[in-house]
Amino acid sequence: MRDEVVTFLLTGSEAPSLALTWTWYLLARHRDVEATLHAEFNHVLGGRLPTVEDLPRLEYTRMVFAEAMRLYPPVWVLTRQAIRPVDIGPYTLPAGSTILVSPWVMHHDPRYYPDPFRFDPQRWTPERQAARPKFSYFPFGGGHQRCIGESFAWTEGVLLLATLAQGWQPRLVSSRPTKPRPRATLRPASGLPMRLERRQRDQSLGQTLAVST
Ligand code: HEM
Repeated sequence: MRDEVVTFLLTGSEAPSLALTWTWYLLARHRDVEATLHAEFNHVLGGRLPTVEDLPRLEYTRMVFAEAMRLYPPVWVLTRQAIRPVDIGPYTLPAGSTILVSPWVMHHDPRYYPDPFRFDPQRWTPERQAARPKFSYFPFGGGHQRCIGESFAWTEGVLLLATLAQGWQPRLVSSRPTKPRPRATLRPASGLPMRLERRQRDQSLGQTLAVST
């Protein structure tokens, strides 16, 4: 019971907050993507707050979130233990072997993601997504231990982005790239200091403008 609660608290809060942290980082470094995101907010929401009913139309927001978790999977390595001898490809693993499976490694494989370190949400159009094998992307793991919070996490991530990014744009304090630190989860190595800028809606243009505060 205690283990279940700890897993729930850690995975249910740490992983979503890291996914959003890396998303803010990437948006601050890719203003073109940020501009496309705001065009979607203006088109779909017109300045109001999003609701669950808006989720199917916030397609680009979902693509941005998916691409952020591809580049920086919060859970970057999973472990499994062989309960009996098993053949995987050319390898025979004895019972008791610990097997590491890494979303980070797969998510940066150029066979599935050309120019794998480039932030490109267009990789997540339905057609391009369908052309890739299932386990080329698994930020939520797989098999019977797969994350039980996945659909909640997509809902939470897209709604939080659409809510917060309409009002605020976080800007990086340093222009130096932030390295990830691979521990139990994938955190920014030295934190991620950002400055918040407020965005205001210009009624005459129907657009959202950034102002310094
Ligand atoms: C972006 C957000 C999230 C990511 C990237 C994530 C990722 C993962 C991963 C990789 C696993 C291990 C799967 C495996 O071993 O195959 C996992 C397990 C788990 N996750 Fe999530 N998770 C997220 C959000 C959540 C949320 C919001 C909740 C709860 C509300 C949650 C609850 C759990 C639980 C309880 C497990 C353990 C499942 C089991 O062992 O049977 N996760 N998660």
